[in-house]
Amino acid sequence: MTASSKTRASARLYRGTALNIRRLSAALRRGELVAVPTETVYGLAADALNPKACRAIFTAKGRPTADPLIVHIHDWAQLGQLAQPNEAAAQLAEAFWPGPLTMVLPKTDQVDDIVTSGLPSVAVRMPGHTLFRKLLLDCGLPLAAPSANPFGYVSPTTAEHVRISLGKRIGHILDGGPCRIGLESTIVDLRDPAAPRILRPGAITRGQIADVLGVEVLVGRPKGRSSEHLPQVAPGLLKRHYSPRTPVDLHERIHENEWRGSPADEAWLFITRPAGRLPRNIFWLDARGDLRAAARHLFGTLRQLDGAGFRRIHAELAPGHDLADAINDRLRRAASKG
Ligand code: TXA
Ligand code: MG
Repeated sequence: MTASSKTRASARLYRGTALNIRRLSAALRRGELVAVPTETVYGLAADALNPKACRAIFTAKGRPTADPLIVHIHDWAQLGQLAQPNEAAAQLAEAFWPGPLTMVLPKTDQVDDIVTSGLPSVAVRMPGHTLFRKLLLDCGLPLAAPSANPFGYVSPTTAEHVRISLGKRIGHILDGGPCRIGLESTIVDLRDPAAPRILRPGAITRGQIADVLGVEVLVGRPKGRSSEHLPQVAPGLLKRHYSPRTPVDLHERIHENEWRGSPADEAWLFITRPAGRLPRNIFWLDARGDLRAAARHLFGTLRQLDGAGFRRIHAELAPGHDLADAINDRLRRAASKG
């Protein structure tokens, strides 16, 4: 295996055997990058305590170093090495970890500036995917991992997505099948436990977090902050994010007279399958409009449509709140021109 060869042609895909987990732990301990499955999206992981390895994540993704990384842990005991947890964090961990929730907390001095973009806080998550948990346990390291996509492109929800877009820049991809949730984790800022704030909506909802903490949960970045403070309070706020190359137009509701008779080189993406016989440029995320299934299929479908040569993608927003908010957040970013 020439995994660390400089002339590497393409990443190797690993099935989740015990031997492969040991091989990939060894690669992580050597400071190499490994793409990993999580229940949300695939991540591009490196030893979070190795600044050089973390720097390589930014290079591989083409990501600006001003956009900090999420650190993944196997168990609660690892958190103290990275962050200063408070009671709110303990309550949320009890309720939602392992799972699709990331908490922003004051960092310890063991976490290098490259991980946090120089911020005094760190984002931490305990993922639920079985294979990723095995790898975290085996290597014994906290793993920094942003989504495993080139910066600004649609997040990957299969190992194949990772191979297609980063396969020439990384050596190892752990294949854990399609991601169960399909949208990135909910990020909650807990630096002030009395005023928790959702920085990115995900499968864990504002209401669920409020129920556990018993306080009001704020959403979005605080008003009146100048853009130079953005990294500190506003992750993923770079608006153009998750974007296909094909222009995306959003619609609250798409009416039948809009898509019937539209040119064949424009795609129409619905949450639910429209009734009746459909032309070939009509797509949907779930036949019956189940939002969990729609979330799971969103990024894969955007990639598929992006590769199909359409001139434009018209997308209908999801109805309702909670998971719909998370889906619509990604659709808005996909459609953002700026
Ligand atoms: O589901 C997920 O969260 C996936 C999987 C791989 O775990 N990861 C993910 O990472 O979506 P990424 O890098 O694509 O998005 C992480 C976001 C970034 O937008 C970053 O700005 C924010 O987390 N973030 C990281 N550290 C932060 C901090 N200290 N304060 C505020 N935001 C932070
Ligand atoms: Mg990302």
